[in-house]
Amino acid sequence: MATNITLHPGSINQSERTQLLQQRGVTVWFTGLSASGKSTIACALEQHLIHLKKFSYRLDGDNIRFGLNKDLGFDEKSRNENIRRIGEVSKLFADSCCICLTAFISPYRADRAVARELHAAGGLEFIEVFVDAPLEVVEQRDPKGLYKKARAGEIKDFTGISAPYEAPLEPEIHLKTGESSITECVQIITEYLSKQGYI
Ligand code: PPS
Repeated sequence: MATNITLHPGSINQSERTQLLQQRGVTVWFTGLSASGKSTIACALEQHLIHLKKFSYRLDGDNIRFGLNKDLGFDEKSRNENIRRIGEVSKLFADSCCICLTAFISPYRADRAVARELHAAGGLEFIEVFVDAPLEVVEQRDPKGLYKKARAGEIKDFTGISAPYEAPLEPEIHLKTGESSITECVQIITEYLSKQGYI
């Protein structure tokens, strides 16, 4: 625990930053089972937003676990810490006026609530996107062969098989990737961002 530390507010406030950069920051938080489509949709959305000349950046579970969170595994405590750190990092991105896209399983409601509260405390919106696909569908897709390994007992604590996934109760956006295409999902989110004045 650090002691003797002081917050430095900086010389520019949030509304000046927003006005000068002509963009409001926000976090779009994707949550869902492995292979539900989080990363694919986040990638397509990031590409779309950048083509609109909007400052957007994606934080993705697999990628972040190669660097910042390489010390974390998949037990409950590690996942709590994974999401706590991403909540903090995404808040910084949103505070910098970025449209931050996070693609993490983030299986625990309480962890997502902490990330949301952190944003609210900084006056930043947190848009929770439930990337919903039934277990049968994601298991059928199994692009990385992880469900097969989990069923065979070769991976422990695997979300949906041997570890829990707590679906959002009131997400801002609910996507059903077994029914909608990636393009349709991107369009749904884009329309939401447009209605809220972010793009
Ligand atoms: S979490 O639950 O939010 O901390 O997970 P996250 O950081 O998003 O990492 C999920 C990706 O890690 C791979 N993987 C596993 N997922 C779930 N359970 C276990 N045990 C596991 N082991 C490895 C997997 O590729 C996940 O990527 P996605 O994109 O979700 O398929």
